[in-house]
Amino acid sequence: MSKYTLNGNGQPRSVEAAPDTPLLWVLRDNLELVGTKFGCGIGQCGACTVHINGEPTRACMTPVSTVGRRTVTTIEGLDAHHSHPLQQAWCELDVPQCGYCQAGQIMTAAALLKSNPAPTDEDIDGALAGNLCRCATYMRIRAGVHRAAEIAASASTSAKAPGLATTKGGQQ
Ligand code: FES
Ligand code: FES
Repeated sequence: MSKYTLNGNGQPRSVEAAPDTPLLWVLRDNLELVGTKFGCGIGQCGACTVHINGEPTRACMTPVSTVGRRTVTTIEGLDAHHSHPLQQAWCELDVPQCGYCQAGQIMTAAALLKSNPAPTDEDIDGALAGNLCRCATYMRIRAGVHRAAEIAASASTSAKAPGLATTKGGQQ
């Protein structure tokens, strides 16, 4: 066993684990971040997708000893208020069926929207090609990503409009 301090969801998290323990098990078993799911364990389904330094990464294939000081973001840390545009869109359009794959879908889609705020169908299908859904919600996932892009664009327009971006206390 070795000690590691992970930069997880914006906080330092100390864990003890064997160096080759997959990050997925450290997240789920040591840190109780169970939103990230185990599907195949061999990097083929995307259920375990988290962000490492903002890049979508298979947690099942990432030994904890390789993470170092890089930031790890799970579905729990994607948005402090669980209201990321994708989470809003997913609720609005009832995207999930059983839900098992959806954290991985959202984490992959979040990375896509960060690099490409207005993706086409092809962009979405390409980015999410490695995220499998046994319930075949692919059409709703695609619609959800488009809707999230709209929500994000409209939030950004509102934030830029004079007088609409004030928060409590009048600060911008
Ligand atoms: S559980 Fe990691 S890719 Fe399937
Ligand atoms: S919603 Fe059931 S596996 Fe995707």
